[in-house]
Amino acid sequence: MKEHHLLADRPLLNLDEYHHVKGDALTKAKNMPREKILEELKTSLLRGRGGAGFPTGQKWQTLYDDPCEKKFVVVNAAEGEPGTFKDRIVMRKNPFALIEGTLIAAYVLNTSEIYICIKGSFHFEMSRVYAAIEDFRSKGLLEGINIYLVAGPEDYLYGEEKAMLNVIEGVGPLPREAHYPPYIKGLFSTPQNSNPALVNNVETYSRVPEIILKGADSFLSIGTEATKGPFICTVSGDVQQEGIFEVIPGITLRELLYKYAGGPRPGREFKVILNGVSSAVITSGNLDVPLDYNEMAKIGSWLGSCSFIVYDDERSAVRIAQEAAYFLFEESCNQCPPCKGGLGVASTHIDQMFSGHQVKSILEIIVNGAKSAPRENRCYLPAQGSIIIPSLMKAFRKEFETLLENPDLVPPKVVLPKIVDYMNRTSKFVLKGDAYQEQAIPAPWKEDKCFIDRQNYTR
Ligand SMILES: Cc1cc2nc3c(=O)[nH]c(=O)nc-3n(C[C@H](O)[C@H](O)[C@H](O)COP(=O)(O)O)c2cc1C
Ligand code: SF4
Repeated sequence: MKEHHLLADRPLLNLDEYHHVKGDALTKAKNMPREKILEELKTSLLRGRGGAGFPTGQKWQTLYDDPCEKKFVVVNAAEGEPGTFKDRIVMRKNPFALIEGTLIAAYVLNTSEIYICIKGSFHFEMSRVYAAIEDFRSKGLLEGINIYLVAGPEDYLYGEEKAMLNVIEGVGPLPREAHYPPYIKGLFSTPQNSNPALVNNVETYSRVPEIILKGADSFLSIGTEATKGPFICTVSGDVQQEGIFEVIPGITLRELLYKYAGGPRPGREFKVILNGVSSAVITSGNLDVPLDYNEMAKIGSWLGSCSFIVYDDERSAVRIAQEAAYFLFEESCNQCPPCKGGLGVASTHIDQMFSGHQVKSILEIIVNGAKSAPRENRCYLPAQGSIIIPSLMKAFRKEFETLLENPDLVPPKVVLPKIVDYMNRTSKFVLKGDAYQEQAIPAPWKEDKCFIDRQNYTR
């Protein structure tokens, strides 16, 4: 396996094989002063792979500096962004790096408590993570450590970090108020004890062991100035070869789509690329953008969780906007009325565009609805709507106007991919709603103490 890469062609089978291929970072970490680990992480410039790209070393330092005695390590394995499957692949192919990363975090924060928050429907990943935990346990590497696997709900908001903590506490996937980030109010806090929680994405934790093992400089040698270390992209939609690709920052989106994903479908051209539903869309004129935080920001978009959903020239931009708006509207939890209301206005008015004659001002109503959604919002979801919907309307204004002028020319619907599995044989993703037989997975964790069913969870 290449240096600092997490994925090989075939899955790593057990901890011995992982140690053989990558080495034993946990033992090295435990012989290092905690401050030295933090220094390495900060120097490496590792940024969170869950979407926001927050500097990981800085986040760990904040938690480390907190005087509270009780702290928690939480893994965000909810992977709910449309078009992403990278964390599930890491858990399938290399769960050992993830567990090792969390154990290093637990050592740094001097805590025994680790929560791995996964979706209840991710059966295969749960069985791989569970087996990896047991492998660490059998080698005596979990002494004094409690690891809980949380089989959470299907909601998109489960992946929002403040909602995730509420799920662990049995409240459900509802984000807490914006002024309670996990480092201010963690798990099972009391007025006296904030019990801060370190929440990182699966890929983020999984990158930590090799940084500790090989040193920050070796990680720094990979990538661009703003974006260090390999990262994992998911490419789905109108390409010849859908898939999950671990790449080096700085390659262009064009290279990713042509070299890795095989280019457009025969006779078609790329039209627009979504990066999940979290940032502005990328049009075909911007395919030469390097995959790098700064370069993506320059074209008004973001690297995010690198979930590239590709639509070609057969697809309608209005239909894409309809799907994105409906997804965000439906997933909004309605704790902050402008969020549900604004996204509702945008979504229902896009729907109306397909039902006969409408006035031209409907376009302004849609944009205003989307832009009004993020007010006094607890989480970033409505901000996503206020970016992605207007960005599609700006880039494809003509198409929206043409539909208004010719209401009888209704374009076919498009799909916003909610990925449930990947078929190696056909290089295709299986999407929610597809007819498909999931591989039967034994469920050894059901009766085990390291499994929490959120409904039954009490503490
Ligand atoms: C609506 C919403 C959904 C999110 N879903 C996920 C998710 O599925 N996985 C994830 O890692 N982060 C998700 N995030 C981001 C997390 O809140 C958080 O920023 C992340 O877990 C931090 O980890 P990182 O620093 O390692 O990126 C989501 C954020 C929002 C607003
Ligand atoms: S901003 Fe929207 S999704 Fe987030 S908590 Fe408020 S209502 Fe729910």
